[in-house]
Amino acid sequence: MTTFYLLCVVLFLHMGIMASSADQLRPGFYAQTCPIAESVVRNVILKAMIIDPRSAASVMRFQFHDCFVNGCDASMLLDDTPNMLGEKLSLSNINSLRSYEVIDEAKEELEKLCPNVVSCADIIIMAARDAVFLSGGPNWEVKLGRKDSLTASQDDANSIMPSPRANASALINLFNRFNLSVQDLVALSGSHSIGNGRCFSIVFRLYNQSGTGKPDPAMDPDFRSKLDRLCPNGGDGNVTGDLDKTPRVFDNQYFKDLVGGRGFLNSDQSLYSGDERSREYVDKYSRDEGLFFEDFVEGMLKMGDLQSGRGGEVRENCRVVNGEKFNPIRLERIRD
Ligand code: HEM
Ligand SMILES: *[C@@H]1O[C@H](CO)[C@@H](O)[C@H](O)[C@H]1NC(C)=O
Ligand SMILES: *[C@@H]1O[C@H](CO)[C@@H](O)[C@H](O)[C@H]1NC(C)=O
Ligand SMILES: *[C@@H]1O[C@H](CO)[C@@H](O)[C@H](O)[C@H]1NC(C)=O
Ligand SMILES: *[C@@H]1O[C@H](CO)[C@@H](O)[C@H](O)[C@H]1NC(C)=O
Repeated sequence: MTTFYLLCVVLFLHMGIMASSADQLRPGFYAQTCPIAESVVRNVILKAMIIDPRSAASVMRFQFHDCFVNGCDASMLLDDTPNMLGEKLSLSNINSLRSYEVIDEAKEELEKLCPNVVSCADIIIMAARDAVFLSGGPNWEVKLGRKDSLTASQDDANSIMPSPRANASALINLFNRFNLSVQDLVALSGSHSIGNGRCFSIVFRLYNQSGTGKPDPAMDPDFRSKLDRLCPNGGDGNVTGDLDKTPRVFDNQYFKDLVGGRGFLNSDQSLYSGDERSREYVDKYSRDEGLFFEDFVEGMLKMGDLQSGRGGEVRENCRVVNGEKFNPIRLERIRD
């Protein structure tokens, strides 16, 4: 009996050690097993951007939506199943996240070249880096070696992901829960230097900011009338506008726009207009693009380190866990 108990303890400890060593992320993780991995992903992103220039922004957004919900484990790529409501239809992701097929494409190519080796979670991390670099932003070395989750949670996504209505102090608190500083929050929000947002995400601030029945006073009047025309009250919520003045170039224009009261989302503008702590960084980045790039890379690396510690697998198909039947009908429905 005692021997059995001891054996269990030993086994348990051993498993614990294996789990943590499997979670050791490092650059060059695939140097032996799939040396071509990073160039394959970069080429797929480049091709996708030629067909759809916005896909760079859409793909780099995946890192945020993946890493914040139970760590960077590609849980957000799982399609719903009869037993599991995944993250794709959660409040922040439904009708909003797009370009899932770009990750599928990278996965398909990698499965041909190095089957069962490169995780979907690592593809998201590489793709985000490549999207930033190919849009004119910084390049950096990513840490790899993540595993893909065996499950996903719509509830977790709903409770964690911030609303575009959020103010700076709520965002500071949220990022703090992930050990991300005010600097990280502001630098990472600079990802809104590329991409688009829907009228759905801003009509409340155009017509009824914080339930006042009035527009957000922090907006530049010309910018506001432009948005009024783009997003009339009661209009089509799926119409999109640019997140900054240069939505295909990764630069510090986003911060200049915030200083000028031309932030698209309330969560953006509030970083400048709503809180001293974040305003300081917006000011700095608006004047120093090099500093923004440096702090952005630091933030992406920290965000990329978030892990659930639950262990997992390398998925063959990013949309389903291994061994589960592929459901092409569902796939079609969620594909954009
Ligand atoms: C700080 C809290 C954040 C909030 C509240 C927020 C919210 C949003 C919202 C509402 C949109 C537009 C969605 C729509 O209208 O359909 C958006 C787009 C985007 N977000 Fe964020 N976001 C935040 C942080 C981040 C971070 C940390 C990243 C990446 C590092 C990121 C990357 C992006 C990108 C690239 C887009 C454009 C996507 C496209 O054009 O398809 N966001 N975000
Ligand atoms: C920010 O939002 C939170 C949560 O919605 C709210 O409780 C708080 O009063 C707001 N803070 C400011 C400064 O507006
Ligand atoms: C934040 O840091 C603390 C102290 O180092 C650590 O215990 C905690 O797990 C970290 N939280 C996250 C979400 O990484
Ligand atoms: C504005 O929002 C508040 C609070 O959500 C609501 O009570 C009010 O009816 C809204 N006003 C308009 C004009 O939509
Ligand atoms: C946007 O389009 C989707 C799909 O056609 C639709 O289900 C949704 O209701 C629309 N959303 C808004 C805010 O209009």
